[in-house]
Amino acid sequence: QLQTKHSHRRQKVLVVANRLPTKPKRDADGNWTFERCSGGLVSCLAGIRAKFDMVWLGWPGADFNDVEKDIVANEAMKQGCYPVFLRQNLIDEYYNGFANNVLWPLFHYIMPPFDKGVNECSTGQWEAYRKANEIFTEAILSVYEDDDYVWIHDYHLMLVPKFLREAKPDCNIGWFLHTPFPSAEIYRTLPWRQEIIESLLHANLLGFHVYDYLRHFLSSCVQLTSLEISAHSVDATSIGGCIVTCATVPIGISPDEFLTGLQKPEVKQQIEQLHEQYAGRKVILGIDRLDYMKGIPHKLMSFGRFLENHPDWADKCVLVQLAVPSRRDVPEYQRLQRQVHELVGQISGKHSSIATGVPVIYMDSSMSPDDLSALYNVADVALITSLRDGMNLVSYEYIACQHGKTVPGVLILSEFAGAAQSLGAGSIRVNPWHLQDTAHAIYEALMMGSEEREALHDYAFKYVSEHTAQKWAETFLQCLQEACSDLMEVTSQ
Ligand code: G6P
Repeated sequence: QLQTKHSHRRQKVLVVANRLPTKPKRDADGNWTFERCSGGLVSCLAGIRAKFDMVWLGWPGADFNDVEKDIVANEAMKQGCYPVFLRQNLIDEYYNGFANNVLWPLFHYIMPPFDKGVNECSTGQWEAYRKANEIFTEAILSVYEDDDYVWIHDYHLMLVPKFLREAKPDCNIGWFLHTPFPSAEIYRTLPWRQEIIESLLHANLLGFHVYDYLRHFLSSCVQLTSLEISAHSVDATSIGGCIVTCATVPIGISPDEFLTGLQKPEVKQQIEQLHEQYAGRKVILGIDRLDYMKGIPHKLMSFGRFLENHPDWADKCVLVQLAVPSRRDVPEYQRLQRQVHELVGQISGKHSSIATGVPVIYMDSSMSPDDLSALYNVADVALITSLRDGMNLVSYEYIACQHGKTVPGVLILSEFAGAAQSLGAGSIRVNPWHLQDTAHAIYEALMMGSEEREALHDYAFKYVSEHTAQKWAETFLQCLQEACSDLMEVTSQ
């Protein structure tokens, strides 16, 4: 167990993410539920608790009044969480506005419309972003003790490293980006590029999913600062930062959670039911957050192309597409939903018949982990057409849930997802912008022989089971400890 140099207490890791892993909700009768989020970061970080005490700081997902805040804070603390409360206007301007309407599109290579700069109201949104980052920093400081490690997550909180370093010069600070870091040519269009990059350079360690994102970040540093930059570090001491280590630490999943889930009698029963329901048809599965960078319209159009190219497949396959609602207050997401509904309607109108039924089963909803595992298991093909994606863990989850089948399913994976760099050789890689290419990949996947399927699956499963979520978290923290101790050596010389 790791103990601090100042006392005998265990060192803490303060995990700081925009969202808490618990969703407090009050029903019409005034009863509270605190649904624990599953998957994602939550399972990644479970292993950390063995070594460190951990506190998770984040926004509880809604605006609460003072009485409600006490209830939420009490319950959150029982779960090792510390809520960071934000008022509705800040949620609108910081979360819906700057984070999800300025940074998120830009980091996924979507520029503002060609006839506009980042629109004027973004200046107010930038102020709100700064304010929210200050509020998060204050929350960190209220639980921080000397020698703790602060692990900041994602694009929402990029100003925290500087604010925190100014308040606690010796603080151990790591930041991990869950999205792509765009090419410097894209990043440097951001009016606030300087403040953001300089703030990040106040951390000890910056982590990215894949080497390309790290490289893009370093190119931005070269273009926007006059600091000394090497292949994996930036000397930011002249601007009050540190010698910052940059590392590639790809995230993973906990395959065991899925494999154990698949053994549950209720999941087995669900699998049987799905087999019966889709008997005689191949299931092509799409699971995405309803987000424009997931390329759902491109997927639907490619599937439409496939049916046009191979009308004989119309009664032999079905596309099951789950689109989990997301960021509903951002207009772009509302537009996307309308567009997707229209496309589903068009394809169904064109390819449905009384005899064969509908070719697309589309759901605007989320699913329980058990139902999801069953669906992953029965799917013959998983179709991932992200236009840009930090990693894409759906591809990993699909591979995990195919394990143990006599004839495993085939993963079709966009080359623009970070996962293409790890699972590329275990999948059919596609350029989702090339509809005909994706349509052909669907055909290829459906027709693939069992030997080739097994070879692809074995490759992908080996990767997924070796590069787990727990390993990701441990590696990041180990790099952080090394980055911080290297720094101590430099300063004591
Ligand atoms: C992406 C981001 C995460 C975010 C998630 C869900 O994966 O990298 O930071 O939590 O989307 O989005 P939401 O806006 O609902 O938190």
